[in-house]
Amino acid sequence: MNYAPNSWEARELASTLHTFTDLTALEESGPMVLERGEGIYVFDVHGKRYLEGNSGLWNIVLGYDNAKLIDAAMAQYRKLPAHHNFFGRNSQPSIELAERLKAVAPVPVSRVFFTNSGSEANDSAVKLLWLMHGGNGQPKRRKIISRINAYHGVTVMTASLTGKDYVKPFGLPLPEVVFADCPHHWRFAQAGESEQDYSRRLARNLEELIQREGPETIAGFIAEPVMGAGGVIPPPEGYFPAIQAVLRKHDIPFIADEVICGFGRTGNLWGCQTYGIKPDIVVASKVLTNGYFPMGAVMVSPEIDRRFDKACRDVHFFPHGFTTAGHPVGAAVALAAIEIVTSGVLDNVRRLAPRFMARLKALGDHALVGEARGVGLMGALEIVADKKTKAPFDEDVAVGERIATAARERGLIIRPLGTSVVLAPPFIMTEAELDFLFDTVKQSLDEAWRQVR
Ligand SMILES: Cc1ncc(COP(=O)(O)O)c(C=O)c1O
Repeated sequence: MNYAPNSWEARELASTLHTFTDLTALEESGPMVLERGEGIYVFDVHGKRYLEGNSGLWNIVLGYDNAKLIDAAMAQYRKLPAHHNFFGRNSQPSIELAERLKAVAPVPVSRVFFTNSGSEANDSAVKLLWLMHGGNGQPKRRKIISRINAYHGVTVMTASLTGKDYVKPFGLPLPEVVFADCPHHWRFAQAGESEQDYSRRLARNLEELIQREGPETIAGFIAEPVMGAGGVIPPPEGYFPAIQAVLRKHDIPFIADEVICGFGRTGNLWGCQTYGIKPDIVVASKVLTNGYFPMGAVMVSPEIDRRFDKACRDVHFFPHGFTTAGHPVGAAVALAAIEIVTSGVLDNVRRLAPRFMARLKALGDHALVGEARGVGLMGALEIVADKKTKAPFDEDVAVGERIATAARERGLIIRPLGTSVVLAPPFIMTEAELDFLFDTVKQSLDEAWRQVR
């Protein structure tokens, strides 16, 4: 693409390092430079309107012009526009938010630690566990079990927990990370194996992994209730009960990474509630502030807190924290966001979810779609070259990019992710907007099919 030298697109390309951006697709389609947002729509610098079919990065679920969130931020900016929570100092909104999170958490939580992002929150959870085990006579408990295809962030530790090949060029994962199976029944189950049987097999594999590594070396297990960036993979039936039984046997703490699922995505406030997960640590971010402020939170159970507190006292403090974490403005926004989600918006997610799933499943018949899967308001279409063998297209065909580009031309933003295309629309959308989304996805699949058949 050639752009006029002073165009926004040329300026973007000349000034910005691109994150998780397919560089060939960027060369062909160019960057999308946005000017403003309204409801669930964004407008680019040429005035073209797009429905945000991925809620930004799963987070902007209440739209781009929520007056309550903006007012909460502005009021707090006027009162105490910034502070930290080091050295026993804190701000009122940060305390109120910690209390509110304790009240709405999926399991009993005794205290909350704030960060600026989901990555920092998962990273902090690992450091917390390391300190805790060390201070409780178990210094060998260093290893974290993650899962193939998981996504937990981009810091050195959380990239290590991310079970994707793209961390390898960084020389990661760190040696402390070991990987359990990806729980994708459609892709990895044996012929004729039921979801329940597959879950039992994965639990047996986990037990073997723990025995191989030595139970006394395992610090924790981390999992997303639904794998998000892995391509929206809901757990197979019976998966988390089977996995948790193994972890409990070896006293291995469970970190639930609720960064995507938390605050409504699966149709309940927490993915843990949708799948019967009883974690020891819950990590939240994204919808926590509707993306209006960078924030993450680590919530710990009373038992973890007790053991952690003992370890901290031995070394006098938790030598960890982020300058802008627990920010009073972010906390004020989060308090307003939780209020909005819990008083009506979650009901809208539940009202829309059956239609979302029905229309998603209907696309499973399309020639390009191997599996249509999802839960609540998150879904993925697994794109295949051959429906029988489930073989994906060659990467060079860039079929996901083709679908996303066709959608973009029609005013819809959706995201190719690995071999799938992901849908995660805002929680405040109407049925008519949901229908536009699926009609457009269908047209985009048809167009991509015409190109690659
Ligand atoms: C499940 C999960 N955990 C952690 C993260 C990392 O969050 P952040 O990008 O805010 O660092 C993400 C981001 O998409 C995520 O999906």
